[in-house]
Amino acid sequence: MCGIFGYVTKNEEALGSILIAAAERLTYRGYDSVGAATMNHGKIDLRKDVGKVDAVAAKYNIAEMRGQRGITQLRWATFGEPSQVNSQPHLDSNGDMVGAHNGNVVNNVELREEFMAEGMIVRSQNDGETCVHAVERYIKRGYQFIDAIRLAYGDLQGDYAFVIGRADDDKLYAFKKGSGMVIGIGDGFTCLSSDLPSILPLTREVIRPQDGEIVTLWADRVEVRSVKDGKIIQRMPETVTEAMDAVQKGGYPHFMLKEIHEQAQVARELIHLLDGSPDVQPLIEKMKSARHLYFIGCGTSYHAALAGAVYFAQLAGRAVIPILAPQFIAQYAPAVGYEDVGIFVSQSGETKDVLNALEAAEKRGMSCFGLANVVGSTLTKATSFCLPLCCGYEISVPATKTFTNQVVTFLYLAYRLAGKDPSTALGDHSLRSGRAIDRIPDLMEQTIEMVAPQIEAIAKDINEWNDMYCLGYGATYPIALEGALKLKEITYAHCEGMLSTEFKHGPLSAVSKGFPIVFVAGTNDVPLIISGINEVKVRGARTIVVAEEDSRLRANGDDLVVIPKSDPQISALLAVLPLQLLSYHMSVLRGFDPDFPRNLSKTLTVD
Ligand code: M6R
Repeated sequence: MCGIFGYVTKNEEALGSILIAAAERLTYRGYDSVGAATMNHGKIDLRKDVGKVDAVAAKYNIAEMRGQRGITQLRWATFGEPSQVNSQPHLDSNGDMVGAHNGNVVNNVELREEFMAEGMIVRSQNDGETCVHAVERYIKRGYQFIDAIRLAYGDLQGDYAFVIGRADDDKLYAFKKGSGMVIGIGDGFTCLSSDLPSILPLTREVIRPQDGEIVTLWADRVEVRSVKDGKIIQRMPETVTEAMDAVQKGGYPHFMLKEIHEQAQVARELIHLLDGSPDVQPLIEKMKSARHLYFIGCGTSYHAALAGAVYFAQLAGRAVIPILAPQFIAQYAPAVGYEDVGIFVSQSGETKDVLNALEAAEKRGMSCFGLANVVGSTLTKATSFCLPLCCGYEISVPATKTFTNQVVTFLYLAYRLAGKDPSTALGDHSLRSGRAIDRIPDLMEQTIEMVAPQIEAIAKDINEWNDMYCLGYGATYPIALEGALKLKEITYAHCEGMLSTEFKHGPLSAVSKGFPIVFVAGTNDVPLIISGINEVKVRGARTIVVAEEDSRLRANGDDLVVIPKSDPQISALLAVLPLQLLSYHMSVLRGFDPDFPRNLSKTLTVD
């Protein structure tokens, strides 16, 4: 997740060290490249590159940079590989303006072409540069700077925050759409950032601009205007009282809980990104003509692959082989060829098991594509192309937001492969309110709201148990596996995920009085789940059912955790949220740190 920071003072100052310190405070968001620009007396000094803050700062002597205004940016690659030219900030064609953004401008590819056709110098593939040229376009057409910014806002689609300054000026200008941005007001300076932590050591007086507003920052004042009519909006500063650590965690006690709550927003951003991605259609074509289609991953990413395979069959009538990466090498690699397509799924893009499978597949000439969160990772470089998951940095070891965005991507691809407009493919209720896929973020928010208190209570009730099961069927089977993995990973209890119908083939003998069994019930599978519930209930089990409201499930299960109504595939996806919360609360109740479970690391680069 990129981060921006801007700083305005009255006179020229040594801004380099202020920018480096602010960049350091943004690093927790995750990044691959760093840049800084200062503006003073008609001149812009720009230094940037791929690497860590301290390394780039040392290499380019950023500490010596002086100016009256400064911008720093940490880049988490989405559009364009990590490289010096794609690093931010960016200049306009003539080097009169400099700007940087965080987030994603999803129509940047089209805009870049328009800008080049209009004669502008476009130097990178990065969407941050698109934002600068979007302003330049209207300056060239004769608009005043503030109006050029207002018009640029209308052209730039996506979720982002953007700051820009002119060499020959004394101000910075900023706006945001769908993404966060905070303005700081200090003694003799003003500043802005993607989030609070980079501002807090400087000032606690802040303004939080809204979408559709443009902020102008002078050294001693801030002005907020409406994009729509250019009129000034009165906005009083507020005083922030939280501690730095709490602010970094977004006010949540752990990163895991913060990341669980971020899922709706990152899903929103991902859907926008996929809508604008030039890579989706070529991938669809490749998959259509493939002899066999493999989805390959490990751990949580494998569960997403499994969910994807169910969606592809149910929605597009396309069989997919989901497979754990090491088993792919043993079971399928000897038989694959150039007619086959593999999608390699990985949050980190560095999992050795996945990279080994990729190598084995490539040796056989298979077409290999990726789905990864860390753009610039080995997987993104080694595949023909890799769709980004667009989640930003996932700090907590248990994967949460990256899992849901992997599943959302597969759902999106399944509809596109089906060749149906998602709005007509998803059933009646979706027709009333546009594409069903667009409703996922809101449904996620509703789910968390609906289930949170009940899940906390259930966590307390079953916390003494060190043995559990999590059962699902069809689209909810991968979700049950994922719920069980989360529970194992951070509670250290044994929790097995299983196909509900398999339970009677052996594990049933483990059931004793109070034994907790979670059922994830899809709307079409209720009768099947009910027989599973009764099988274990008569043997004393405590049954916790995650499902949409259903009187039959209410009558049969001990606890019904109700999630919002939606289509079966979306419903399955939503069901993972209560399971993530259950594992989180049980972990905390046991006195563990869910962010850093023992024996595990975020990225497994070993065999
Ligand atoms: O980075 P990857 O998605 O390739 O990682 C694969 C697994 O190691 C990972 O999903 C692991 O299972 C998670 N920590 C689960 O929360």
